[in-house]
Amino acid sequence: MKQFISVEDVPDIQHLVNKALAYKINPYLHSTLGNKKRMGLLFLNPSMRTRLSTQVAAQQLGMEVVVFNVGQDGWALEFEEGAIMQGHTVEHIKDAAPILGKYFNVIGVRTFPGLHNKEEDYAEFYLQQIIHYAGVPIISLESATLHPLQSLTDIITIQEHFKEKRKPKIVLTWAPHIKALPQCVANSFAQWITQWNQADFVITHPEGYELAENFTKGAIITHNQTEALQDADFVYVKNWSAYREYGKVLGNHSNWMLTMDKLQHTNNAKIMHCLPVRRNIEISDEVLDSQRSLVTEQAANRVWAAQAVLSEILTASSHE
Ligand code: CP
Repeated sequence: MKQFISVEDVPDIQHLVNKALAYKINPYLHSTLGNKKRMGLLFLNPSMRTRLSTQVAAQQLGMEVVVFNVGQDGWALEFEEGAIMQGHTVEHIKDAAPILGKYFNVIGVRTFPGLHNKEEDYAEFYLQQIIHYAGVPIISLESATLHPLQSLTDIITIQEHFKEKRKPKIVLTWAPHIKALPQCVANSFAQWITQWNQADFVITHPEGYELAENFTKGAIITHNQTEALQDADFVYVKNWSAYREYGKVLGNHSNWMLTMDKLQHTNNAKIMHCLPVRRNIEISDEVLDSQRSLVTEQAANRVWAAQAVLSEILTASSHE
């Protein structure tokens, strides 16, 4: 694997899942693979889980890690081609990224969408420029439209918790939120689950919250949350802002919060969320504090997902 930006970079999802689970059993299985290699983690937006789990994963492979919070620690970056830089930005990405490529063997990058310009966000304007100018393998730590490390973690967690011989029913349900959030976790989850092709997959959301079709091909989509939740084995809860009316919050849908009574017709469903979660807005305390909730385990699995991805990238680069 030469980079990890989306599921399209992954030749075999199941191989990556199995590798992650092997690291979970033995974290130091390949403890010298990254010796004398350095990873830079660039954050243009905040993070707790992604930042810490990727650091731990890289260290378990023997790498050194440097974290750089672009907005706080460094100069404000300019990304516009041909910009006349008389505003607040101090350094152009085409000057900064090649230097980062000299310091680091692998770079992890987190960017978020502006949620104002759909074309710019869905072209992954910021991430693509870093890929273009850095000249070393890039791992997405969440981008404007996708969160592949999260989705890999989610599949690992589902596989660990489903032991029956049939396919699990997985439901991605929209949840309310107080802010307009990106579509990236939902896009990515839909993309990975459909390509993994080992589940019956239903997406439910209020009218107007349709995701981009290229990510949801193969999923059943319904506006009826009750119907969607029937017989579910896993319920993945996430808010996202509208894609069509781009970045908008379309009214009050507080009745979409996941509560215990909504789970009564599921197949004793396990509850997932990428975190951070707004308690009693997205999911009730009762659900989050119950045995059904996988959210802590899911977040803990971020280490193994990051370690599997990094391991594949280090192995591929050592063969060049
Ligand atoms: N789920 C997730 O990406 O969490 P952080 O924003 O804390 O990294």
